[in-house]
Amino acid sequence: MKIGIIGSGAMGRYFAAQFVKLGHAVSIANSRGPASLQQVASDTGAEAVTVEEATRDKNVIIVSIPQKNVPDLPKHLFAHLPKDVPVIDTCNYYPDIRDGVIPELERSGIDSLWVQQQLGISVVKVFNSITAESIAVLGRPKGDKDRIALAVSCDDAGAKEVAFGLVIALGFDPFNVGTIAQSWKQQPGSSIYCRDLKLEEIKKRVLAMGDDWSAQRDAIRTKHSADMALIIVDYAAYLKSLRD
Ligand SMILES: NC(=O)c1ccc[n+]([C@@H]2O[C@H](COP(=O)([O-])OP(=O)(O)OC[C@H]3O[C@@H](n4cnc5c(N)ncnc54)[C@H](OP(=O)(O)O)[C@@H]3O)[C@@H](O)[C@H]2O)c1
Repeated sequence: MKIGIIGSGAMGRYFAAQFVKLGHAVSIANSRGPASLQQVASDTGAEAVTVEEATRDKNVIIVSIPQKNVPDLPKHLFAHLPKDVPVIDTCNYYPDIRDGVIPELERSGIDSLWVQQQLGISVVKVFNSITAESIAVLGRPKGDKDRIALAVSCDDAGAKEVAFGLVIALGFDPFNVGTIAQSWKQQPGSSIYCRDLKLEEIKKRVLAMGDDWSAQRDAIRTKHSADMALIIVDYAAYLKSLRD
């Protein structure tokens, strides 16, 4: 497949290296242009391109940038994509430590609903609920007893299927959380966020959350705020807390 990645941070570089290894033709872009990506290109084997090129003539596009920067992406690039090109959204909203409060997002409180509104297209939410540290080392072949699962939400069945394939290829079991309106279940602060859980445990926890966002929202947001406070002072302690 031809895969375009927007964002060359910890996540973007991971995707670039892995998908090149898996035999895909990978292009990677950032906000500063291809000249700033020569080291990333040589480390990963991906082609350094502009954001425009990362969205042109691709089979899949991955958007992996800070949530607050999503509105900076040129909307027309997404508006003109063929309908069968899935756009993967790995972004998470961190209002207290990176993104600032985004009032429009706060209205629904569902991160990827807001991303969809910003880009004017449907997205697949996946790869948001595992840390860069874990995704780099926890991929395992199918059937391995230590294989963990990753949550996937999307309104489009075809796009979700493509995302499932990518998750499996990287060594994880996909778990279908539901639609983008239900993607709050995999947002920061939820009980499956960055916990490196196996499929059965994710299933159990998602079921336990129920379907009522308004009933869960305060608890999930309170947990996310506590996590953000810990991240600022001690990231290692935050990572450890995810295992408790
Ligand atoms: N790190 C994790 O553990 C992790 C795990 C799961 C999900 N996530 C989420 O995934 C997203 C990416 O995370 P990350 O840790 O990889 O981020 P990061 O290390 O901070 O890197 C951000 C990347 O986004 C690029 N970028 C910013 N604005 C852009 C724009 N307008 N156009 C094109 N590129 C732009 C930056 O390019 P420049 O440097 O040129 O500005 C940079 O390459 C975030 O939303 C994050 O919350 C992160």
